[in-house]
Amino acid sequence: MKEEYKLIVKAAKEGRERSYSPYSKFKVGAAAMLKDGTIIKGCNIENASFGLTCCAERNTMFSLITQGYDYHDIVMFAVIADTKDPVSPCGACRQVLAEFLKPDTPIVLANMHDDIKVTNLKELLPYTFLELENV
Ligand code: THU
Repeated sequence: MKEEYKLIVKAAKEGRERSYSPYSKFKVGAAAMLKDGTIIKGCNIENASFGLTCCAERNTMFSLITQGYDYHDIVMFAVIADTKDPVSPCGACRQVLAEFLKPDTPIVLANMHDDIKVTNLKELLPYTFLELENV
């Protein structure tokens, strides 16, 4: 595995350790790498009112912005879960990521067995609905 992928997958795995998922017991982690090497980690957070759950990918992106980082600086994004094949983001997360990531920004899908698939939003969400272009 390329060094940069190893680095972001490790961070996503660390994010996953923070998961609050007592209902599904399905822990998900995510990470965003900025151009200066900073990595922001996140996890899924569930709620007794199940619909209020928020996925790791969205929490990571919202946390990054909330902490004052610039989403334009994101050079790579990763998500990890304990799945047979590298985990694939849900539709809602694809739409949210599309708001902030460039269509060709590498997205590393990973699992706990060191399998990865590197993709991007062009592949994950073609014909994206966007109101704003190049913001
Ligand atoms: N989940 C994520 O964190 N990311 C996804 O892309 C799909 C699902 C979470 C939500 C919930 O806490 C658990 O996984 C089971 O659906």
